[in-house]
Amino acid sequence: MVCHEPSHHHLNRQFALDGRAFVVSGASSGIGRAMTGFLISAGAKVIGIARRQPELESLAAECNRSNRPFFPLRADLRDRSALAAVAAHCMEAVGQVDGIINAAGINLREPVEAISFDSWDSTLNLNLSVPFFLSREFVPGMKKNGYGRIINIASLQSSRAFPNGLAYGASKGGVCQLTRAMAEAWSRYGITCNAIAPGFFPTELTAPVFSDPEQAQWVKNRTLLRRHGELEDLCGATIFFASGASSFITGQTLHVDGGFTAH
Ligand SMILES: NC(=O)c1ccc[n+]([C@@H]2O[C@H](COP(=O)([O-])OP(=O)(O)OC[C@H]3O[C@@H](n4cnc5c(N)ncnc54)[C@H](OP(=O)(O)O)[C@@H]3O)[C@@H](O)[C@H]2O)c1
Repeated sequence: MVCHEPSHHHLNRQFALDGRAFVVSGASSGIGRAMTGFLISAGAKVIGIARRQPELESLAAECNRSNRPFFPLRADLRDRSALAAVAAHCMEAVGQVDGIINAAGINLREPVEAISFDSWDSTLNLNLSVPFFLSREFVPGMKKNGYGRIINIASLQSSRAFPNGLAYGASKGGVCQLTRAMAEAWSRYGITCNAIAPGFFPTELTAPVFSDPEQAQWVKNRTLLRRHGELEDLCGATIFFASGASSFITGQTLHVDGGFTAH
């Protein structure tokens, strides 16, 4: 029997991101900020988009200290008329954009009765529409290169309904299908489109859950691994989908949730 044992060098190359440039939306905090760090550690350049300048600057300063290539870009992604210019800035900053992580998102946690047209539109716009319209800006360049990585951020609420999560859940259910549809449209050009569905991770977005001991305990009890997620738990999936290691995987959503959705 011939054993196709990969060498260490080959394994490292599979996961390396040297020379790749990624755009990360929502880079100023939480999951997007952590993922920015993972990509940079694996050798990528990152353009990080968010509204808050001080948070972006503190991340830029962290990266500068260790000579890591990070380009902050301040933008409100809800502004549709600005999306093309935002994408153009990204491409100017790094030349070729090889991948995007769509991590900007909001969860307004409104009771069903309180959801207004405006709050609905805001949630669906940022969580579902922006990942499509912003990613699409980079597709011509990725096509030319025959290579691209689009990574969306889904949720437990892509497949589970929680109280006060109707609009958020609708947007995140949409993210899973958007991911398949993007894969259908663009995989033939070498652009893979996948989603990571995190369980509960402590960020600004989930502060209301983690600051309530009862809810925090409920999450732990529902999680097969009997602990909360730590941002570092998202590193493997991020590098996997961003790198050559996932070359033949597209249209998929991977739950990184300690087993929350396994039962
Ligand atoms: N934390 C979890 O447990 C969890 C679980 C499942 C899914 N997720 C998803 O993971 C993603 C990141 O969430 P997170 O938990 O890391 O929350 P977070 O810490 O609140 O981060 C949200 C990010 O989105 C950015 N953002 C919000 N509105 C924006 C806008 N209009 N324009 C540009 N950027 C905007 C924020 O930056 P600025 O405020 O500076 O603009 C921030 O960087 C979201 O899609 C969320 O739904 C989180």
